[in-house]
Amino acid sequence: MRIVLLGGPGAGKGTQAQKLSEKFSLPHIATGDILRQAVKDGTEMGIKAKSYMDKGLLVPDEVVIGIIKDRFNQDDVKSGFVLDGFPRTVPQAESLDSITKEMNMPIDAVVNIKTSPDVVVERLSGRRTCKECQTVYHIVYSPPKVDGKCDRCGGELYQRDDDKEETIRKRLDVYEKQTFPLLEYYKNSGKLLEVCGDVSIDEVFESIVQALKK
Ligand code: AP5
Repeated sequence: MRIVLLGGPGAGKGTQAQKLSEKFSLPHIATGDILRQAVKDGTEMGIKAKSYMDKGLLVPDEVVIGIIKDRFNQDDVKSGFVLDGFPRTVPQAESLDSITKEMNMPIDAVVNIKTSPDVVVERLSGRRTCKECQTVYHIVYSPPKVDGKCDRCGGELYQRDDDKEETIRKRLDVYEKQTFPLLEYYKNSGKLLEVCGDVSIDEVFESIVQALKK
C-alpha cells in the first residue's frame, strides 16, 4: 500500500503514520524527520534547512524533492510506504507523480486529516519527541510510561524548536497558503480521502483504516 498523509501542523500525521506503518508493515517516510536528522548531524543541507524550519517556513522544493528521490532509491519502498509531510506544494506533488510513475508505483490513497486551529496549538505545545527513534508523545494525550523517556527505545524526549507558539502560528499560515491548494490537486485525481482529526488518536486511526478499506 502506498499512502500519502496530508494535514496541517499538529494534525497528527506523524502519529498516524507510525500506527499505519506498524499495522501494514510499511516504511514511514517523514521529510520533517529526515530534515531534523540532517540538522542534528550538522550537514550542509541541515544547516541550510534549519534557517527555514526555525522560522516556520517551508524548505525549498528542490531540497525536499532531492531528499525524496534519494529515499525512493532504497529497496524498502518497493513494498509500499506511508509518506508524512511530503508533498507540501503543488511542484512537490508533481515531482512525486513523476517519481512514482517512473517506478511504476502509483499512490493508492491520499488521506487528509482535518483539524481545527484551536486544538493544534495545545497539541504542539505538549508534544515530546524521542531524540533517537522520533516516536511522538504528548504530555497529556499520549504520555510515555516513564517521564522524559521513550517507551520504545529508552531515548530522551525533547521539545521541537519550532513548537513555540509564534512559530506554530507561522506554520499554520504557511500551511493555508502553500499546502492547502494540494487538496484541490488530489481531489481532481480521485484519490483524496478525508477524516476528522479532532477526535482521539485511536478514533482517527480507525477512521483512516475504514476509509482505506473503501
Ligand atoms: P514536519 O515535521 O512535517 O511538521 P508539520 O507538518 O508542521 O507537522 P507536525 O510534525 O508538527 O505535526 P503532525 O501532523 O505530524 O502531528 P503529530 O503526529 O506530531 O515539518 C517541520 C518543518 O520541516 C516544516 O515547517 C518545514 O520547514 C520543513 N519541512 C518538512 N517537510 C517539508 C516539505 N515537504 N517541504 C518543505 N519543507 C518541509 O501530533 C502532534 C501532537 O499532537 C503530538 O504530541 C501527538 O501526540 C498529539 N496528537 C496527535 N493526534 C492527536 C489526537 N487525535 N488527539 C490528541 N493528541 C494528538
